[in-house]
Amino acid sequence: MKPSMMRSACQLLRRRSYSSTSGQPERKVAILGAAGGIGQPLALLMKLNPLVSSLSLYDIAGTPGVAADISHINTPALAKGFMGEDQLKEALEGSDVVIIPAGVPRKPGMTRDDLFNINAGIVKNLATAIAKYCPNALVNMISNPVNSTVPIAAEVFKKAGTYDEKRLFGVTTLDVVRAKTFYAGKANVPVTDVNVPVVGGHAGITILPLFSQATPATNALSHEDIKALTKRTQDGGTEVVEAKAGKGSATLSMAYAGAVFADACLKGLNGVPDIVECSYVQSTVTELPFFASKVKLGKNGVEEVLGLGELSDFEKEGLENLKGELKSSIEKGIKFANEN
Ligand code: LMR
Repeated sequence: MKPSMMRSACQLLRRRSYSSTSGQPERKVAILGAAGGIGQPLALLMKLNPLVSSLSLYDIAGTPGVAADISHINTPALAKGFMGEDQLKEALEGSDVVIIPAGVPRKPGMTRDDLFNINAGIVKNLATAIAKYCPNALVNMISNPVNSTVPIAAEVFKKAGTYDEKRLFGVTTLDVVRAKTFYAGKANVPVTDVNVPVVGGHAGITILPLFSQATPATNALSHEDIKALTKRTQDGGTEVVEAKAGKGSATLSMAYAGAVFADACLKGLNGVPDIVECSYVQSTVTELPFFASKVKLGKNGVEEVLGLGELSDFEKEGLENLKGELKSSIEKGIKFANEN
């Protein structure tokens, strides 16, 4: 083929692939807390996501710089920064997915619940704005303590008359990401092939990885290995907090996990079939009103909350043990939303 013909064939191919990309529905994603430790790498990952057409970066300060920086990346998503409460309306209007990493991180020695006093109020204000400006958006809650902040948002939405349990998610993907990584390392299997459901909540013993359902299955792990993997997954956040020695908690892996979950939500909205991720949602899987388990995502958010499947005796015990703590975290969130 002559070089000129080759060039036009390549151009044609490029045009075709471009037009199939632009054939996707337009999707606006807002990140609340976009200038923070999680917010910045999350903004970068969402800017790289071909399903995003508009990326709204909101924070109380610092977003003009983040938006200017990110907006130079040559991907289709149009990134715009919004700073301060007067710009929250514009940041949120028209959003399909709102991701909330806003708030303060842990320092060594703190539990996620120790963040409640500061982060609960922040989440409540942001949820109030979501109810007003984009009540139909899928909300992906990252701000800790997730076990309480999701119930807080649910109460705010109920009061505003906008609550749809199919649209509110606690992001527990980092627990799955960790469980996959640790399992692959121990079982000596390729990490990209691994799947491990993680159920319960997102704090300490409420994080319950179901290694008995991990794939690819292995006989190489003893009960002691499974116990150690479970503990490491439950303490994964603390491992990072301690390693960062006062400089915060997981930001990069959390941004990655947040981006994986938001991508799954966008695919579900766009009608891609069989999108399943673990998430902390309103649930009837146990007697607790909120619980993380596998969730099928669709055009309206949650299409189906999937059950737990068969559990090992060790996992059954873990499930019973986590219920008390998870119940009180949920009640704490509900009480706060109704009293403040
Ligand atoms: C995590 O799991 O890394 C996050 O929830 C942050 C934290 O405080 O552990």
